[in-house]
Amino acid sequence: MKVSNHQSLSCFNTLAINAIAPKIIELESISDLSLVDDIDLKSAYVLGEGSNTLFVDTQTPVIIKPAFTGIELNEHEEYTELEVKAGENWHQLVLTTIDKGLGGLENLALIPGSVGAAPVQNIGAYGVEFSDFCRYVKWFDFTTKQVVKISNRDCQFGYRDSIFKRSLKDKGLIVSVGLILSKRWQPKLTYAGLDDLDKTSSAKTIMDRVIEIRSAKLPNPNHLANAGSFFKNPVVDSSVLSELERKYDNVPNYPISDTEVKLAAAWLIDKSGLKGYRLGDAATHEKQALVIVNHGNASGKDIVDLASYIKTTVFQHFGVMLEHEVRFIAKDGETSLVQLEREQTND
Ligand code: EPU
Repeated sequence: MKVSNHQSLSCFNTLAINAIAPKIIELESISDLSLVDDIDLKSAYVLGEGSNTLFVDTQTPVIIKPAFTGIELNEHEEYTELEVKAGENWHQLVLTTIDKGLGGLENLALIPGSVGAAPVQNIGAYGVEFSDFCRYVKWFDFTTKQVVKISNRDCQFGYRDSIFKRSLKDKGLIVSVGLILSKRWQPKLTYAGLDDLDKTSSAKTIMDRVIEIRSAKLPNPNHLANAGSFFKNPVVDSSVLSELERKYDNVPNYPISDTEVKLAAAWLIDKSGLKGYRLGDAATHEKQALVIVNHGNASGKDIVDLASYIKTTVFQHFGVMLEHEVRFIAKDGETSLVQLEREQTND
């Protein structure tokens, strides 16, 4: 276990926000958990690679970083089973599986972050989600100090959502994930950008295409600080889409049910005139309006102000309320844009 006090987190979050952690506890093995004080366990924020986190204050809670690594593989007749420790890098895992000739994760290539963070927001891209492959998640409970296995069903996966963001929030941490990759692999090529690929394409060819698309549209956090899609794609009543289609051609949308559709938040922000919009060092990306970038010295507050401006402007234009996908962490724990806006009004 490595402990450091009073340390800047600017290298520990991909938005490069310079917030100070009172303590960072890096766990090298699961047994390290028994060495952590109860007070720290119960007040800490568990941070993976910081690619979906916005520190909104100049101070943060105590940070626990699981750094356990290791990949175990078990071959079965119909599938390959993997158990992967939380501290592994997600994209490296995708590369490793493809390298071993195991198809399945190719559409999820180049998603930043750790394996332990993948179930929390049920990462997804190009028509595929983490939950499609997850058999279980191993979870260390801070109260019982036991590791339990949570089945896919009990993880309550949804669109960028899971039990780990809800009833299990702050109650423990993910130790490892169990994945199943079927030997009867089928390519998933329905999403725009992959739909022109040959139906007989290999998983490696699909992965290379995903890497190509993502590299062209999404900024690499090592070169331009960002946390991927900042807002979720909003689910609205179909009547909202009909209204939009009266004014615009080709409104991107994905059907959810007979009465609901998902709109593209990127399109709504873009059409509100905010693509590339800059407020100090915080800005929307010039090639993907859904990505908020830090051009240098933006503080957490600067990013919050821009997010609030985007939310208000999109609402004024379209009557659609955006919700952030990125998690907002204040000095005493998780908060939200709605809560911060409320606090500002009350000041
Ligand atoms: N669009 C615009 N303006 C833009 C960008 C996009 O009008 O500036 C339009 C596009 O033309 C397209 C639509 O918006 O019709 C959707 O854009 P895109 O295909 O780039 O995907 P997205 O909905 O913005 C989602 C995920 C991404 C994931 C991609 C690909 C969410 C919130 N985001 O983005 O995930 O990589 O699909 O599957 O669901 C992430 O979560 O961090 C992330 C990057």
